[in-house]
Amino acid sequence: MKNEATVIEGTKAVPKLGPFPTKLRGEELWEIVDMWEFSPGNKEKIKAILEADANIQGPHLFRYYNPKPSRVAAAEQAMAELVGVKHCLAVNSCTSALVAAFRALGIGAGDEVIVPAYTFFATAATVVAANAVPVIVEVDDSLNLDPEAAERAITPRTKAIAAVHMRGAPAQMDALLDLAKRKGVPLVEDVAQAGGGSFQGRRLGSLGTIGCFSFDFYKVIVSGEGGFVTTDDEWLYTRAQSWHDTAACWRPDRFARERREGELFAGENYRMSELEGAVALAQIRKTDAILAGYRRAKKLVKEGIARSPRVHFRRLTDEQGDTAICLILFLPDADVTRRAIEAMHAEGVPAGGVYDSKVRDWHIYTYWEHILDQKSVAKDCLPWSALPASDLPRYSRDMCPRTLDLLGRSIHIEINPGYSADDCSAIALGINRVIHRLVP
Ligand SMILES: Cc1ncc(COP(=O)(O)O)c(C=O)c1O
Repeated sequence: MKNEATVIEGTKAVPKLGPFPTKLRGEELWEIVDMWEFSPGNKEKIKAILEADANIQGPHLFRYYNPKPSRVAAAEQAMAELVGVKHCLAVNSCTSALVAAFRALGIGAGDEVIVPAYTFFATAATVVAANAVPVIVEVDDSLNLDPEAAERAITPRTKAIAAVHMRGAPAQMDALLDLAKRKGVPLVEDVAQAGGGSFQGRRLGSLGTIGCFSFDFYKVIVSGEGGFVTTDDEWLYTRAQSWHDTAACWRPDRFARERREGELFAGENYRMSELEGAVALAQIRKTDAILAGYRRAKKLVKEGIARSPRVHFRRLTDEQGDTAICLILFLPDADVTRRAIEAMHAEGVPAGGVYDSKVRDWHIYTYWEHILDQKSVAKDCLPWSALPASDLPRYSRDMCPRTLDLLGRSIHIEINPGYSADDCSAIALGINRVIHRLVP
């Protein structure tokens, strides 16, 4: 045996290590494959291949330091091209995208952000997570932020307006962009529910200062969980990127000192995994085909609905840009709406209510008691403690009566791109029967 201390000229103690098997092998791939459905017999064939192949080497599922081209980076590029922006950052959710956007804009304690009274709670919750105060504002008959109400809500503390494109359809972007410009306030687009949609020929997420997307499984284009931040502003992108990665900062040089005041700060970890990146990439490429399916089905259902003077469709600010994931009807009052939904269910129509004062729902501001009651996660009582009580918004459950009236009279018809022409006419027939009976 060699004496441990003997040095032999020209040789290394450790001449070579590895190669080692990668951390992920066939077993991990099988768990993924097993989630999919195949034609009979095919899954078994794949399993046999995975079990027999001793050379399976799994991927590096971390986007950085990846020896192969990153799927997350490819998804960012594809998303930037789809949306039509210069910069795109992948994150692990739209909630993360919103916090990163607010933080990139420098929003913090003592600031206010305008949010619509009808949106998923995340839009308002992320304002609080950024230590700012959400100012809750009425929606109009597009069921998106009412620009006039937003204008009335602006104060010297307003640091952003969050325009949410709810249930697939664009907000009044012309009026909101004009307002944002006149007041010098950034417009944050929450595109969580309208991925791929557009307004006057421009994709949502490219019109405002910064756009935030969700790829969670219930959205238009999906990766299970996931999100994207889109912007033309390089500085905002850099700051969002820092925030999303603990400010460990994969800038041009990860360990470089600050290139400009405001580049380095302590952030969080919102990184997207390569698994989500791969699924997102495939979905982004298919966006227009997915939208075409929704739009075909919605057109057929809508064309089949007999017009009635007492029933109105939700106002679309740009019908071409609607992602068409649903069709919303307004009936004359909440009581007939409730009865019509029940009757539509009896007809087999995939109809649902949007607001019922007896049913809790995180999309309606009246249930955001965390905000209405000014809850805080810590004893610093932020964000509320950052402003004198007289400057805090006066929250109450009846502060947005128009929103509650519109939502209480809304019937939401689910659209599925898989509906056949017969499905669409059957749905329209069911709706017509109920309207004929209850709202003649
Ligand atoms: C309007 C809106 N904003 C934000 C979010 C949050 O998205 P995520 O689930 O990706 O965090 C959602 C999700 O439902 C949403 O509908």
